[in-house]
Parts: sequence; C-alpha cells; structure tokens
Amino acid sequence: MNIEKRIFGEIKGVKVYKYTLLNSNGISVSITNYGGIVTDLIVPDSGGNRRNIVLGFVNLSSYEEDREYLGALIGRFANRIKGGIFTLDGKDYRLACNENGKNHIHGGIKGFNRVLWEAEPAERPSGSDQGKITGSAKMPGNGGVSLKYLSKDGEEGYPGNLSVKVVYSLNDDNEFKIEYTAETDKPTPVNLTNHTYWNLSGRGSEKIYNHTVKLNCPQYLEIDEDLVPTGRIRPVENTPMDFMRSRRIGDGINKVVGGYDHCYILKPYTGKLTEIAEVQSPLSGVSMQVFTTMPGVQFYSGNFLHGAFDKHDAFCLETQFYPDCPNRPEFPDCILKPGQVYSHATIYRFQAK
Ligand code: BGC
Repeated sequence: MNIEKRIFGEIKGVKVYKYTLLNSNGISVSITNYGGIVTDLIVPDSGGNRRNIVLGFVNLSSYEEDREYLGALIGRFANRIKGGIFTLDGKDYRLACNENGKNHIHGGIKGFNRVLWEAEPAERPSGSDQGKITGSAKMPGNGGVSLKYLSKDGEEGYPGNLSVKVVYSLNDDNEFKIEYTAETDKPTPVNLTNHTYWNLSGRGSEKIYNHTVKLNCPQYLEIDEDLVPTGRIRPVENTPMDFMRSRRIGDGINKVVGGYDHCYILKPYTGKLTEIAEVQSPLSGVSMQVFTTMPGVQFYSGNFLHGAFDKHDAFCLETQFYPDCPNRPEFPDCILKPGQVYSHATIYRFQAK
C-alpha cells in the first residue's frame, strides 16, 4: 500500500494536504483534509484503462466555493432537519436554515465539509499488506488516513463538544472503507456521511442513465415539496422507485418528480455491515458494491448539479440515519449521549467485469 502526501493549497496561512492511497491493483483514492473531501478515485476499467469515477476539482479554491458538497464529509447532521429546529430533553435548538431559508441541510453554513481536519496516518486496515510509502512526505506504513475534528459546543447551533474521527482506508481487496466514530459531552444528533458523486463510466464521460442500480431496500421515505420526509414509509414495489432488482437509472428517473433524491430503507437492518447497493456502468464495466452499518441511504441522482458539472452527471449514495430524525421519534434514533460512541462504517468495493 502506497500513501502519498502533497500540499493541496493553503487556507489563512495553514497548509492543506491531499493524501493519495494506492493499492496493488492500481486503484487510487485521494482525500484532502479540507472538508475530508474525496477528490479523485481512479480504478482500472474492464479494458485496463484508468478512469476517475468521482466528480472533483483540481484546485482547493474550487472546493471552497463549491455549494454541491462534492466528495465531502458531511456533519454534524447529514441531510435535512425541517425548519432547522429540534427539541432535545425539553430544550429547543435552532439551526441555520441554509437551504432556501427553509430547512437545515448538511450541518449548516460551516458544516464539517468546510473545516480543516487534523490528518495523520491511520492504523493499517486488517488483512492489508505491509505498506511502502512514497511521495513528497514519507509516512510510516499505513493503509489509510485518519481525520480528526472537534466540533465545539454550540457550533452551528448543535449542543455538546463532539469529538469526531474519520478513517479513510483502501485495501488490496479493492475496498475503500470509511469509518466514522464520535463522542460527545452532551446529548446531540449525529448523522455523518460522505457526499461523493459517482460516475462509474468516468468523470465527464456520459450521464448516469445507463448505469444499473440495485438497492436492497424494499421501502423509502416519502418526501414533501421541500424534500423533507413526511413521516410516511412507502413500499417501492411496482413504482419507479423500485431498485430491488438491478435496473437502469434512466428507466425511471423521468417518472419521479425532480429525479431520485430519497432516503431508501435497508431491510433487514441488523446494524452490522450489510450490502445496501450495487451499481454498474456497462460502458466501463466498473461496478461498485456499497456495504454499510447504517439503516438508510440517500439515493440522489445529481438533479441540482449545475456549473462545473451538470444535472445527472453523477449520483450519490449517502449512507445515513433517516433525514429529519431528530423530529421523528418513530425513526431510528440518531441522538448520541455522553458515554456512548457513534460508530458507522461504509465500504465501497470495486470490480471491473
Ligand atoms: C440532497 C440533495 C441536495 C444535495 C446537495 C443531497 O444529499 O439529497 O437534495 O441537493 O445533497 O446539497
């Protein structure tokens, strides 16, 4: 396993780095400690050609200006909280309504995607080979990068000092793993995810319509006109929402108002790592399986992409608790209490067929 560390830029006099992990099969993933952003993920396709299968920018400044959360680490709460308000232990908390002044989204104005994380070499993922280090800064043999951030009590309106650790690693089984842990000193909602936009045909090659998707999710959360769950859980069966069997994105996308932007519910849910999704590009032959410990996944078909990238250029699969769960006691509980450890793992496994 090779790890390269390079300077990516500077923010207010502080150097920002980009780490590239490379495995023995020619897969590489690059991560910057600004926003914990995955900037590039390159895999060999079925013909052995290298394709960058995530959306990203070359310059740090583009990420500072980005409003679409490209590749970013999302927290303290991924997705929407209705009206930016929730009540916890009898107290009301008000968060920024940073989406059209209506709802809170992706942790607020300065979410975890806009902070500098403290980065260091991570423990070797189990089963990986003893690594060789290359690049401008040599680090001891490791298979990953660990990012730490202390989100202070009151930051973006959330209660409690939240100490967060996220480990990105890559192994020789072509698994890119993200492990999230967090601890708090006051009860607080925690819902961390990664917002990588995928196009398995390769960045800029084609729209996502020909990708086939399988989601092991027989139900999804119905949403209102602001894309917030209504509280109703709907079966996917006999609807354009159904991905229980592998199906082209293009088959149903125009039959769903606005395109796919829904939280799908994993069944059965055990809390153990379970395969939630599999996506394939017939053009490149690249497939990606997603395994997670989370109960849901937001399947977002890039409907609002505009500017550097365009509508439906890529899709996101954001593994997470259900949106707006701080206001929905009937949804799985996202409240972390002092003494508990938030722990979430998601694995993306690649293959070219
Ligand atoms: C949401 C989209 C939103 C995008 C960027 C996704 O997680 O589901 O509705 O446009 O993030 O904010």
